[in-house]
Amino acid sequence: MSHNGLIDLYSDTQTRPSAGMRRAMAEAEVGDEQRGEDPTTRKLEERVAAMLGKDAAVFLPSGTMCNQIAMAVHCTAGDEILAADTAHVFFSEAGGGSALSRAQTWPIRSDMGLFTATDLKANLREHNNRYQPRSRLLIIEQTANMGGGLVWPLTQIAEVAAVAHGHGMSVHMDGARLFNATVASGVSARDFASPFDSAWIDLSKGLGCPVGAVLAGSKPFIHECWRWKQRIGGAVRQSGIVAAAGLYALDHNVELLATDHANAKLLAERIAGIAGLALSNGPPQSNIVFFRVTAPGLTAAHICAELLKRNVRMGAFGGTAGRIRCVTHLDVSKTDIERAATALAEIMRG
Ligand SMILES: Cc1ncc(COP(=O)(O)O)c(C=O)c1O
Repeated sequence: MSHNGLIDLYSDTQTRPSAGMRRAMAEAEVGDEQRGEDPTTRKLEERVAAMLGKDAAVFLPSGTMCNQIAMAVHCTAGDEILAADTAHVFFSEAGGGSALSRAQTWPIRSDMGLFTATDLKANLREHNNRYQPRSRLLIIEQTANMGGGLVWPLTQIAEVAAVAHGHGMSVHMDGARLFNATVASGVSARDFASPFDSAWIDLSKGLGCPVGAVLAGSKPFIHECWRWKQRIGGAVRQSGIVAAAGLYALDHNVELLATDHANAKLLAERIAGIAGLALSNGPPQSNIVFFRVTAPGLTAAHICAELLKRNVRMGAFGGTAGRIRCVTHLDVSKTDIERAATALAEIMRG
């Protein structure tokens, strides 16, 4: 149960810190992070850098700031940033790529957030063509959120990254749900991060922390990230309080993602059995389930409003004719999933 009796499947950002996490936060050793003097934050940064096989890392308040700072460091004015057409950087970051990096963005038509090396080649600009922007940065989202939590296979990442690097571009991983990908595939975070020049993990999604993300890359890259962090007000003070939650989550919560994935599968199975509903992209690979309302006269928004009356929250995406998204996380149990599915079946029976 999420809180106040609500079964909250709106997003994996809806968790509350557990008692153990709160204890770790209360006991954290702290200092002035802006001056590099917070020991717990430094420990978290070192740990994430090692996990991702990078030389250095920097703690930031959010995943959005990781993407924004990475784009600003990799790009200069007039450059072009490429990512899947469904990417968070294009949909949900208030146009930051153009506002902060002053770079142009180019969405690649994708198959639920994934594209191939051939697709990328078809979207690259010519070298030394003064009419065209410079293809400068490729961003890959692991897992692909709007694709229903699809995991980018390692071989596909390697092929796409090789094309980008061959074209003189940098490659950045939006790793908001990287650990969902590692748990779903058995591939390590280090292996997934290896083809990337920069990569980050979010602490405030499946890992269950209240705040924070960690961006990793080479030492010179992270040095430049610090300038942006300072510039846009992301350098903070006694952040050990939240970094301790991150360390706790890395110790205790990563393997629990397997339960979220099992719950997502169970929910998808139940939805597939309800007349008038159809899964958008088959059985889920990780913790996200998308489905459509096929029953005539019913909309996604209406179903979500009815669910809320029964203390179940799901998200309607793409207007009235759109899809419904459910995301499983630490604060929803198997019983909650059964209850949510029963509520859905009840609504569809009318
Ligand atoms: C794929 C993806 N990237 C980036 C973000 C941004 O993360 P944050 O909410 O920590 O800013 C999100 C958040 O939903 C996301 O799903």
